[in-house]
Amino acid sequence: MTDDAAQRPFLDVPRLAAHRIEVVAETGSTNALAAERAREGAPDGAVVVAEHQTAGRGRLDRRWEAPAGAALTLSVVLRPDVPPARWPWLPLLAGVAVVETLAEHGFAARLKWPNDVLLGAEERKVAGLLVERVETPGGPTAVVGIGLNVSLTADELPVPTATSLALARPGEPAPDREALLLALVARLRTRHASWRVGGAAADALRQEYREACATLGRPVRVEMPGDRTLQGTAVDVDADGRLVLDDGLTRHPVGAGDVVHVRAADDAGSPAAQRPGVG
Ligand code: BTN
Repeated sequence: MTDDAAQRPFLDVPRLAAHRIEVVAETGSTNALAAERAREGAPDGAVVVAEHQTAGRGRLDRRWEAPAGAALTLSVVLRPDVPPARWPWLPLLAGVAVVETLAEHGFAARLKWPNDVLLGAEERKVAGLLVERVETPGGPTAVVGIGLNVSLTADELPVPTATSLALARPGEPAPDREALLLALVARLRTRHASWRVGGAAADALRQEYREACATLGRPVRVEMPGDRTLQGTAVDVDADGRLVLDDGLTRHPVGAGDVVHVRAADDAGSPAAQRPGVG
């Protein structure tokens, strides 16, 4: 263990409880625990955070891994009370809240649609989000899970394309997890409260999302459910939160998928690169 890894302060349980943030030392997945709390009646905005997750879940059935105390792994219960058609904005809204929080701490993060949070010219992933719908006695509820790599060392990264806030600012102490957590939760709660009203606030969020989105204007490949691949230029995020791809002939709105930002070098030799449009 490096010195960096050895000096990881614990979160302050009573202080955070006063902000409706429950801290647990260890759990499988904070999303699973928050879903349980939601079914038990946890109110809108309630938060569960774990010092260590042993079975963290990622998008598309992937895993999310980080050593104890090195990341912020949290889940927020949101009860949006809006028509189902608006739910796809929840993960995008949460991504904007993460970007804002990081900006407040001096990090210029960008979003890869829908909500991977990237840092630096190499666009390494520093945070990921997983929003899950839970049926509860109080109605359908969203659990917004966020994993943010704070003090992971290079050896601790799960994949080479990831990074942490500490690695992005070498030689400086890692940002304080508790300050980040409080800022992030406050941003998320406020964003959610204004967005759910709709109208101008929802339009403003769409504009802010577009500004934070590194995917727009780029050639991309989208791997979609059912082994379909779409390739084109990302030209917009529509009012339903879908990424709009232009393949030169048609515009394709995409609601779900894994986006790859294609660089010239990646493109050469890629089988998908040889297929125009939907594969
Ligand atoms: C992804 O990028 O694939 C999404 C990762 C989401 C990870 C977070 S960590 C806290 C919460 N609990 C989970 O099990 N997953 C999310």
